[in-house]
Amino acid sequence: MSLFRTRPVEAFPHVDAGEPVEGSLEGEATLKRVLSARHLVALGIGAVIGAGIFVLTGHAAANHAGPAVVLSFVIAGFACGLAGLCYAEFASMLPVSGSAYSYAYATLGELVAWFIGWMLVLEYTFAAATVSVGWSGYFTGLLESIGSATGVALTLPAALTSAPFDLVDGRVVATGAIVNLPAVAIATAIAALCYRGITQSAFVNSIIVLVKLVVIFMFMAFSLQFIDPDNWTPFIPESQGPERFGWEGVLRAASIVFFAYIGFDAVSTAAQEARNPQRDMPIGILGSLAICTLIYIAMSAVMTGIMPYTMLGTPKPVATALETYPSLLWLKTLVEIGAIAGLSSVILVMMVGQPRIFYSMSRDGLIPPMFGRVHPKHRTPHVGTVVVGITAVTLAALLPIGRLGEMVSMGTLLAFATVCIGIPVLRRTRPDLPRAFRVPAAPVVGILGAAACLYLFWQSFKANWHWMSGWIMIGLLIYFAYSRRHSKLNR
Ligand code: ALA
Repeated sequence: MSLFRTRPVEAFPHVDAGEPVEGSLEGEATLKRVLSARHLVALGIGAVIGAGIFVLTGHAAANHAGPAVVLSFVIAGFACGLAGLCYAEFASMLPVSGSAYSYAYATLGELVAWFIGWMLVLEYTFAAATVSVGWSGYFTGLLESIGSATGVALTLPAALTSAPFDLVDGRVVATGAIVNLPAVAIATAIAALCYRGITQSAFVNSIIVLVKLVVIFMFMAFSLQFIDPDNWTPFIPESQGPERFGWEGVLRAASIVFFAYIGFDAVSTAAQEARNPQRDMPIGILGSLAICTLIYIAMSAVMTGIMPYTMLGTPKPVATALETYPSLLWLKTLVEIGAIAGLSSVILVMMVGQPRIFYSMSRDGLIPPMFGRVHPKHRTPHVGTVVVGITAVTLAALLPIGRLGEMVSMGTLLAFATVCIGIPVLRRTRPDLPRAFRVPAAPVVGILGAAACLYLFWQSFKANWHWMSGWIMIGLLIYFAYSRRHSKLNR
C-alpha cells in the first residue's frame, strides 16, 4: 500500500511578496516571490505559442484535417480548457512549484506522482530539446533569407545544422551530419538565462512574447485580403483512408495540434515565485490559455483561407503561405523573426519549469537532494537548471525532431488527465481546504477532461507505444531502485 501513500496537504496560508516560502529552513535561500499576474500570463503565452502553430499546423491540415484543422484546434483547446480549469484550482490551493507532480502526490499517491513527474520530463525537457531543433530550422532559414537579400553568403554547412542520427524503420542510422549547432547554441544561452534569475527570465520572456504577438497579428491582418472562401470548401474533406481526412482525420489532427497548446500548465511551476498565487495563478493559467486558443483558431482559419490546404504540408507553412503572394513577401522575414522569437520563449519557459518540478521532487526525497538546492545569490534551483540544460542541449544536438514531438504530447496528456482526476478526488478527501478558485461542476469537468486527454493520448500511443512503454519502464526502474527508499514519507 505504501506505493499509494499520499503526501499530506495543509491549508496553504495566504502568501504575499516577501513572505518566506513554505518548507524553507531558517536562513536557507528560497525561490524569489516577484511574479505578477501579467508576468504569469506572459509566461503562459511564452510557453504555448511556438513550434505548434509555426510548424505543425500545415502538416495537420495537409495530411489529416484539411480546412477543418480549425475544428481540430477547437477540440484540442476544449480538452486543454477542462484541464486548465483543474490546474487553476490546484495551483491556487497548493501554490508549490511541482505542478501536476505535486497535485498527484496529494491525491493519487506516490507511485502515480512519480509516474507523472517522469512524464513531465517528457513535457518539459524533451519539449525544450524539440523546440530547439525547430528553432535551428527557422534560424538557418533566416540566415539564408538575409544572405540572399544582401548577397553575403551566410549559410551554415548542412553538417552543422542537423542531427547526426535519424530513425529509419525503427533503426538508428547515421546521417553524415556532425551536430545541430544552432540548437546547441540557443539551448545553452537559455539555460544560462534561467540560471541567472527568475526576474531576468520573466523580463526577457515578456519582450519575446510581445514580438511574436505583433508578428502574428501582422500576418493575419495583411493576409485577410487574400482569403478565398473557396479554400474552405469542402470544410472536412472526404476520408481517404484511416486518419486521412473525414472526422477521423480531424481527431487525429487534434492529437497533433495538441502540441501547440502545451505550456499553459508551466505557469503552475512558477507558483512559488508568484507574488499572490491564490489570485494570480488562475489568471495566468486560464488567461494565457484563452488568448492562445483564440489566436490559434484565427490563425489556422487564415492559413487555410489564403491557400489550398493541400499546399500547406511544408515544414514552414506560414512562410509557404506568404510565398504564394508576392505582395506579402516582405512579411516573410518578419514571420521568421516572429517564429524564432516564439520558439525561444517556449524553450525558456520549459527550462524554467523543469528544474522547479525537480525541486519539489527532491524536497520530497524522490530524487537526489542536489536538485532541491537554491542558489544563494540568484535564488534559482541552479543545480537542476544546469542538469536540465545539459540534457536538453545533448538531445537537441544529436536527435531528429520528428519522434520527440509526439512523446512530448503523450507525456503532457497523461499529466493533464491525472490533474483532472485529482480534482474530484481532493474535493472528496479534503473538502475543508480553502480553494481560492473552484472548478464549476467539478466531477463532470474532471471526468470529461480526463476522458478527453486520454482519448487524445490513445491517438498518439497507437503509433508510438513502444517508445512510450520503454520510457515508462525506465521510470519505474528508477522509482523502485532509488525513489521509493529515499522518499521522505518512508521516514
Ligand atoms: N506549445 C509549444 C509549441 O507549440 C510547445 O512550441
